[in-house]
Amino acid sequence: MKSNAKKSNNGQQRIMLQDLMQHNPDQFLDQLVQFQELMMMYNSAIREVTTKLEILNDELSLHKINPIESIKSRIKEPMSIVEKLHRYGKEISVDAIQESLNDVAGIRVICSFIDDIYKISDMLTKQDDITVIRIKDYIKNPKPNGYRSYHMIVEVPVFFSDHRQMMRVEIQIRTVAMDFWASLEHRLKYKNGIKNTQHIGNELLKCAEVIANTDKEMMDIKNMIELNA
Ligand code: GTP
Ligand code: MG
Repeated sequence: MKSNAKKSNNGQQRIMLQDLMQHNPDQFLDQLVQFQELMMMYNSAIREVTTKLEILNDELSLHKINPIESIKSRIKEPMSIVEKLHRYGKEISVDAIQESLNDVAGIRVICSFIDDIYKISDMLTKQDDITVIRIKDYIKNPKPNGYRSYHMIVEVPVFFSDHRQMMRVEIQIRTVAMDFWASLEHRLKYKNGIKNTQHIGNELLKCAEVIANTDKEMMDIKNMIELNA
């Protein structure tokens, strides 16, 4: 069930799109075709980066415990794209999507251990066809609410029939435990009318600290096992 705030936001975006459709139908159709093409390109970028991650995982798994537990990906929903452009004060156009948004293509990499996160990110960064645009290390610098994750915005070339296009992809890398925490926190954030939000926030923060300590201890145990082997 969507929150009321989200519903009314969607309503606003719908009106803006209807306006464009009524007053400039040719431009609307043109944008629609370009939008479809752009989403296909983002999808291709996701496949390129996912393959890179899978190859790294396969290679690293040969002699040690596999660093990647799972890889999830998604293309941002059209309504969320419109909402974000609106929030940033940008025009609603296909060009604006490419210029202003970093997270239309999103990949989430769930790692077994904290050191795997840095291994994977270093190895990706060293590949000469990947350009790192931005890093946010919420593991070394957790958010005040306790959120931990390693965020990268990268650009990768995607080769089409007659041209090469650099595409932006957001990669979030985190441990299983960090992912477990973030998914619960995310769900709570979007539930309306929760009482004791301050108290719940404090409890979540406490859980985040416990999880962070456990993650470190599990990594130490894994390193001991690998040393013995
Ligand atoms: P966004 O507009 O959120 O994309 O902001 P940003 O460009 O500053 O990106 P940032 O790297 O800070 O966060 C991007 C994404 O990370 C979000 O869309 C969420 O998926 C995730 N994220 C960031 N902060 C939190 C948080 O406090 N809790 C949870 N559950 N997820 C978060
Ligand atoms: Mg986002």
